[in-house]
Amino acid sequence: MNIDIQGLRHEYDVEVLKDLTITLKDVSSIALIGVSGSGKSTLLRLLSGIEKPTTGTVRVNGTNINERAYKERVGFVFQDHNLFPHLTLERNITLILEETRNIPKSEAKNIARQNLEALQLADQMHKLPKHVSGGQAQRASIARALALNPEVIFLDEPTASLDPILTHEVLMAVKKLRDLGKDFVFATHVISFVKDFADYVIFMEHGAIVEHGPPSIMDAPTTRAMRNYMDKVH
Ligand SMILES: Nc1ncnc2c1ncn2[C@@H]1O[C@H](COP(=O)(O)OP(=O)(O)O)[C@@H](O)[C@H]1O
Ligand SMILES: [Mg+2]
Repeated sequence: MNIDIQGLRHEYDVEVLKDLTITLKDVSSIALIGVSGSGKSTLLRLLSGIEKPTTGTVRVNGTNINERAYKERVGFVFQDHNLFPHLTLERNITLILEETRNIPKSEAKNIARQNLEALQLADQMHKLPKHVSGGQAQRASIARALALNPEVIFLDEPTASLDPILTHEVLMAVKKLRDLGKDFVFATHVISFVKDFADYVIFMEHGAIVEHGPPSIMDAPTTRAMRNYMDKVH
């Protein structure tokens, strides 16, 4: 994917993203790292079109994120799976395909099943989210994002609410995204995951990009802020 961010600012009552400018070409997976409150989630919400920036221009694969159709070309995986609690895993996916893409019921079922199978959830698809593990629910939300065949998938700390074993399951699901050739941008504190899955790393602090580059920058941070962060997460 290509991402071009120019003079991006975002404020609520205070400024939370401060004049971000960065151009990345031909990257397939980008990791956002930094302490809580540094602006990772806000940046992901803006990049995915969920929220509009206060000022600045962002293009993803050449498309301005303010264009109306942009949101339909990307997927989002939230920290907590965000599935509809009263619908089965399968129905969580078919509903979105039917409602947002006008896909007929039978075809929606096929697409849902294919994606749930790809994430090893074939035997769970008729269950409600509360009757599967947190890792399975999170994998179903990755399947839901994949089912819409997006150009880019954004994942906001997809393993944050999971124990280590379930975290591993979800990381394997993200590996699947990579195997499928999907481009993705993710926020995480799991550094081994960044080393394995990211080909570019952005370190944020106080709403600014402080360091960025290939994952090897994590081995030799040049700023005190990133050195402190790396010491903390290791
Ligand atoms: N909807 C919001 N309203 C007001 N402040 C917000 C909102 N979302 C995030 N913030 C603030 O923006 C800053 C960045 O938050 P966030 O993007 O969630 O960081 P991170 O994901 O790195 O923890 C924090 O200070 C947070 O309190
Ligand atoms: Mg966050």
